[in-house]
Amino acid sequence: MVDSSDAVAVPAQSRWGVTDRRDLWWIDPLLTLLVLGGFVVYATLRAVANRYYEVGELLSPFYSPNLGRWTPLPQWLSPAVLILWAPGGFRLTCYYYRKAYYRSFTLHPPGCAIAEGRRGEYKGESAFPLILQNLHRYLLYVALIVLCFLWYDVWKALWPQGHFGITVGTIVLLANSALLTMYTFSCHSLRHLVGGQVDCFSANAVCRARYRAWGKLSILNEHHMLWAWTSLFGVMFADFYVWMVASGRLPNLRLL
Ligand code: FES
Repeated sequence: MVDSSDAVAVPAQSRWGVTDRRDLWWIDPLLTLLVLGGFVVYATLRAVANRYYEVGELLSPFYSPNLGRWTPLPQWLSPAVLILWAPGGFRLTCYYYRKAYYRSFTLHPPGCAIAEGRRGEYKGESAFPLILQNLHRYLLYVALIVLCFLWYDVWKALWPQGHFGITVGTIVLLANSALLTMYTFSCHSLRHLVGGQVDCFSANAVCRARYRAWGKLSILNEHHMLWAWTSLFGVMFADFYVWMVASGRLPNLRLL
């Protein structure tokens, strides 16, 4: 139970950053700014690079599914640009990331019990442009489709040179797909999709099945922040690994 004497109030009408908090509250938003900003720069540079994204049976997750293989694209157009809007938009509108980047990028607010200074009328996510955050539930469907392609890439990576085997690349792609699966399946929107808008969970067999699924997703959902960050590093590392192998800087060692 929280002792009300410990509570820290938001200073009213104060200059930005004024607070009674004594902890290092600015560390979290600063780290988020650096890591998330670094990821956006890295992903953008890799997406427009349009090379070193495929080698043998390995395909970078930034380029999956590889539309360039199925459709003739102009040389200047990177297939990743046609793909990344989906997982990128899914992350951008994620409920957890919203909190993270509202605090670190827009400083609106910078943290709990930290004064924001003077602001215009606050409309939250009910007006343009933040109303677009509501696209999250639709981007979830697209993210689930992309996830299927990523698992297909893992399957392909199990057949180096046409024969069953496991390489370091197989493990890297497998870990990436597993982390992205945990991130996607811990999504608040998916949890609502599975267990929301039900008046009585015991009404029939379908409702009972939904209840069980909702319970399992809720366990994952408790750690959504963890999956958000680990999957971010996972996808970046998987792309980096494919880049290194494709450019000849690293051998893709066969383990089995
Ligand atoms: S809430 Fe984070 S992915 Fe849906």
